[in-house]
Amino acid sequence: MKVYKVKDYQELSQKAAGIIAAQVILKPDCVLGLATGSSPIGTYDKLTEMYEKGELDFSAVTTVNLDEYKGLDSSNDQSYRYFMNKHLFERVNIPMERTYVPDGTEADSDKACQAYNEILHKVGMVDLQLLGLGHDGHIGFNEPDDHFPDETHCVDLTEQTIQANKRFFASEADVPRQAYTMGVGTIMRAKMVLVVVSGEDKAEILSKVINGPVTPQVPASILQFHPNAVIIGDEAALSKTNL
Ligand code: F6R
Repeated sequence: MKVYKVKDYQELSQKAAGIIAAQVILKPDCVLGLATGSSPIGTYDKLTEMYEKGELDFSAVTTVNLDEYKGLDSSNDQSYRYFMNKHLFERVNIPMERTYVPDGTEADSDKACQAYNEILHKVGMVDLQLLGLGHDGHIGFNEPDDHFPDETHCVDLTEQTIQANKRFFASEADVPRQAYTMGVGTIMRAKMVLVVVSGEDKAEILSKVINGPVTPQVPASILQFHPNAVIIGDEAALSKTNL
């Protein structure tokens, strides 16, 4: 794992956007794996700025998102499809029909997961997978477990994740209890993985991800075994490592 230490969120976003931009320039028809949450918002803003300056062209890019809440449709402002449209897809020239997010409206979990796996197989290998890090070490919605799930599956969100996400909903009761997520196996098969981590509240878990044993109890720790995983952490997030 390569770890870049940057000063703050601003620098983190700049660096992450630079790496993604390089990927898009090197391979205009690349497949980007994308994440939602607060960590990548600045990165998407920077990518949008580059696009507006004419430095980036997304017209041949395909994207696959990590996850979606079960039960939320694209018009729900808490759905991950809504988030992606707002923060990136509607701001750049990516063809909407090549942006994929698991279908939260499919009530049959098996069907939803199978359909997303078929999309992932069709799209082929992800060139660059962007990730945020959950406080419990989750990537996508792969929560601490006794194994690393391979492909797309339906998960019950942990209490910690429900608590962390309730700030975005009118009340805790409105937070969906389940989500569809890409598996750890799929994430590990991406050619490059880029993790953006900011803030002191992530310091403890980030030190386990980087220095701790590889264990499904800390799902992101498996990235230690990825041949091309890059972590960009700000000073606060890396404050519990010796980097
Ligand atoms: C989002 C996702 C999650 C988040 C993680 C960190 O698509 O899959 O794993 O990346 O929960 O969220 P933030 O960035 O809000 O701290």
